[in-house]
Amino acid sequence: MIIRFLNSMLRATSTIYLLIVFSLCFHSCNNDNASIEQLPTAHLNQNKGLHELSTIPIGGAISINKVLADEKLKDITIKNFSSISATNDMKMYSILRDSTYSFEKVDKLLAFCEEHDKRLFGHTLLWHYGLPQWIQDEASKNGAASVDKFMKDYISKVVTKYKGKVVAWDVVNEGFETSGGDYRKTFWYNQLGAAYVEKAFRYAHEADPDAVLFYNDFNLERDTAKLNGVLKMISELKEKDVPIHGLGFQMHLRMDIPDSTIAYCLKKAADTGLQIHFSELDIIFNKHNDSKDGGEQQYTELTEEMKLQQAEKYKNLVLMYRNIVPLDQQYGITFWDFNDRDTWIKPFFNINDWPTIFDENLDPKPAYHGFADGLKSKSPKTKI
Ligand code: XIL
Repeated sequence: MIIRFLNSMLRATSTIYLLIVFSLCFHSCNNDNASIEQLPTAHLNQNKGLHELSTIPIGGAISINKVLADEKLKDITIKNFSSISATNDMKMYSILRDSTYSFEKVDKLLAFCEEHDKRLFGHTLLWHYGLPQWIQDEASKNGAASVDKFMKDYISKVVTKYKGKVVAWDVVNEGFETSGGDYRKTFWYNQLGAAYVEKAFRYAHEADPDAVLFYNDFNLERDTAKLNGVLKMISELKEKDVPIHGLGFQMHLRMDIPDSTIAYCLKKAADTGLQIHFSELDIIFNKHNDSKDGGEQQYTELTEEMKLQQAEKYKNLVLMYRNIVPLDQQYGITFWDFNDRDTWIKPFFNINDWPTIFDENLDPKPAYHGFADGLKSKSPKTKI
């Protein structure tokens, strides 16, 4: 009697359970069919990494030692990105810390990329910032001709070593003044004039004719004078058949830069026909003057409302990229550091901020889900 009672209870419970599962499934299928756009989609983003949601390569800039020492950071790197840049490990000041070349970190980075099937993007061959004084002294020992030789030797050696492995390079980084449309008066410029840019691209191309070669700079999405200067340089280089294939918009963005300005600048850049890379994406709330320690702390805490605004900004950015940059020019979107714990923004500008898509605990922020929604959107039309 008791057993029969228990059995019928069990049958009833299973039936109720099945009904619940069926009804949940029916609802979620229905919702999927209705419109993915209207849903708060955080729950749908859980199992797929960002790069699996899109055909655009999605990159993350990392320090290889930091990633290898931190399992959670390593997991989110492997899961979300199909392309890897080095925050510092491939810069001249890292490869040439002293008069001998050190490639250990780059080799480690390459091994990581090969093991996990990631594209390795080379950042960067020439940059003015942090260029050690000993390099400047050594390179210019015998005047301009020796600077040219030093530059050629460096580029040839590094690009040849990673030929066919590093598929693209930022050949010249930040070659224009912070604002306005003039060449930055860097060590390379002062020694060789504007011709250093042309030379650098030619040396890189000679070393690896298949590598995709980029010019990379900041504020191109908002300073039209600077953008025009860079575009003029690009058309002059192209007239001389200089092998330049891509333009990197660093995209160290600020929340208050209007989307309409970004869209306008992006369209002008895409019209060159070059590959377009958002190469160092983050979105800061506070202001800065683009130089070291130049931050201005306006916001002291990250509110729920700010999180949602940032999510919207990240979403719009992907939509603009997908909408404006033709498919065959979409080289990718790369996040710089990509978590609020490690972001370069805080130490560099000496402020607190929350510019990335993962929080201090390396958990996804609304910004992550906003970006993912932009990648998944079936009709990437923007309101602009
Ligand atoms: C930054 C690194 O993230 C910092 O760790 C370092 O102290 C300074 O350089 N534009 C660039 C990047 O092209 O190389 C910079 O990276 C950030 C600004």
